[in-house]
Amino acid sequence: MSGYDDVHRRSIERPEEFWAEAARAVDWEVAPETVLREGRWFPDGRLNTCHNALDRHVAAGHGERTALVYDSPVTGTVRSFTYAELLDQTARTAGMLRDLGVRAGDTVVIYMPMVPEAVVAMLACARIGAVHSVVFGGFAAAELAVRIDHAEPVVVLSASCGIEPSRLVEYKPLLDAALERARHRPAHCVILQRPQHPAPLVEGRDLDWEAAVSAAAPAGCVAVAATDPLYILYTSGTTGAPKGVVRDNGGHAVALQWSMSHVYGAAPGEVFWAASDVGWVVGHSYIVYGPLLAGCTTVLYEGKPVGTPDPGSFWRVVAMHGVRTLFAAPTAIRAIKKEDPAGDFAKKWDLSSLRYLFLAGERLDPETYRWATELLGVPVIDHWWQTETGWPVAANCVGLGALPIKPGSPTKPVPGYDVHVLDSDGADCPPGAEGAVTIRLPLPPGTLTTLHRDHARFTEAYLSRYPGHYLTGDGGHLDDDGYLYVMGRIDDVINVAGHRLSTGQMEEVIAAHPDVAECAVIGVADDLKGELPVGFVVLKAGAGRDPAEVEREVAALVRERIGPVAAFRRAVVVARLPKTRSGKILRATMRDIAAGRAYRTPSTIEDPAALEEIARVL
Ligand code: COA
Ligand code: AMP
Repeated sequence: MSGYDDVHRRSIERPEEFWAEAARAVDWEVAPETVLREGRWFPDGRLNTCHNALDRHVAAGHGERTALVYDSPVTGTVRSFTYAELLDQTARTAGMLRDLGVRAGDTVVIYMPMVPEAVVAMLACARIGAVHSVVFGGFAAAELAVRIDHAEPVVVLSASCGIEPSRLVEYKPLLDAALERARHRPAHCVILQRPQHPAPLVEGRDLDWEAAVSAAAPAGCVAVAATDPLYILYTSGTTGAPKGVVRDNGGHAVALQWSMSHVYGAAPGEVFWAASDVGWVVGHSYIVYGPLLAGCTTVLYEGKPVGTPDPGSFWRVVAMHGVRTLFAAPTAIRAIKKEDPAGDFAKKWDLSSLRYLFLAGERLDPETYRWATELLGVPVIDHWWQTETGWPVAANCVGLGALPIKPGSPTKPVPGYDVHVLDSDGADCPPGAEGAVTIRLPLPPGTLTTLHRDHARFTEAYLSRYPGHYLTGDGGHLDDDGYLYVMGRIDDVINVAGHRLSTGQMEEVIAAHPDVAECAVIGVADDLKGELPVGFVVLKAGAGRDPAEVEREVAALVRERIGPVAAFRRAVVVARLPKTRSGKILRATMRDIAAGRAYRTPSTIEDPAALEEIARVL
């Protein structure tokens, strides 16, 4: 029996004992006496997450250790911050927020590019007990407005611009447009003026970041209840309204600290690089909180895997900063492979510091796994999780002794997670049989506690389908050795270049086009991005429009309303959508056709020609 098996079994059989022990690695203002009550972890504990990420390391004499390396090929900058420096900046930024009236429990929206101030902003909120909600920069103004209205921030923290390889993204006009659309009015917006493109400020509402921070006195840490929220992170659900995943302070700190050593095998002082964005959960957990809680050096990379300037950028960063653990999305590796199939760019750099490449965000196809393994000569570790869980559900936990890798599988459930594959009646599927992947309750610490201002949706979306289980929304199977295989979403969520998007939301946007009678959006397999959305559109009778023109307008509408990150480029006008006689669109069958899977024409179909048309177009 391996170390992993023992640890996993103990975590499931005696979860309270297991997590009470893990909680000792965290500093508490009031240590918890109760470990688990009604699904909430450490309900009587009090702590501060920022203290655990920064202050305690400085107090332990590690103030001169590098906390963060900012590497930005798009601006030609490399800058390091020690723990003492990051603490100083964070305390001042926290002081600024306090001066602007932000109190424990208040919400702050952060809409920023990948600059150190974004990390500081998150930690500063945590420091004073405020709840941050980071919105990814690739979303359009309308999406930002929806999140502002839902989160109701006292303050919005933003920057004048972001820098994409091909263009400047003017964040400030996007923020202004969002605030024009939103009903909620934040008291202030604090804008980081980037030299590449400073933005005009609105008098009375907007403040200059540098001026406001330098005028502020540093703020200390405010201890909060372990169950108080640390952040809200919106993610795509099956409808247009995003889900505001709520993360608490105590369970989060305990789980992330535990995962850094046990899942990733990372030790204090090591360099850990998650090549993601602070707008996604990977950025929250493994650019900001995880590495800092563990006393590691984290890398904040403002660039792309390719084009900034070449497919060797990841390898340059690894070599320059001595990265030991790299975490990326399979799509990023595919992008590098496409431009540098022989790995010539990797050969230019000394990659001897690298011990592991962890991949997540979408299914790791075996071909990409093999290419990366051969290129790097280190274990390439697929691991599976989601915004809701906040940390890995299935992984090869290298800190517990690595298990043999099976390409195509993220290995086994991580301790804390009791993973099941259930059939439609709620019975466990035998090995090899596909079903819904669920997690038996209680969920471990660090997973979502509710959906912001919508507990009913939380219960309905995750807990109602299989009583006693959390529904992940993914389908898959277990094999005879207990390895999990996650094959894809079983709902209307798709994964485009590692970005999670809702086809239902795209349908809502397209349906608002005046000439569209109805539509369906599905994810279609793509060699680079994993999946790409394709919209099927039926025009209103008598619209008298050129289909090609409407197709272009529909694509522009999705970009304008949801944002460039949706990568929605392909709309196809069809005569009718495939439906059952009762009017239900046959999305699952359409998805099968798109994935090249064998499909059966349902006997309840209204008009078989409609399915044939979809197959022809695809
Ligand atoms: N701010 C503003 N716009 C952004 C943005 C941001 N932070 N991030 C992406 N965009 C824009 C891009 O500029 C692009 O716009 P365009 O249509 O005008 O070209 C669009 O959103 C789509 O971006 P992206 O999906 O990143 O595609 P790409 O073609 O620019 O790059 C990859 C392709 C594979 C290199 C890139 O998607 C990638 O690195 N993916 C990894 C994602 C990841 O790390 N996910 C986190 C999970 S671990
Ligand atoms: P997000 O919430 O953006 O992190 O997206 C989570 C979703 O991405 C999951 O529900 C899966 O559908 C998919 N996903 C993430 N990691 C993996 C993986 N290693 N294998 C398969 N799918 C994955």
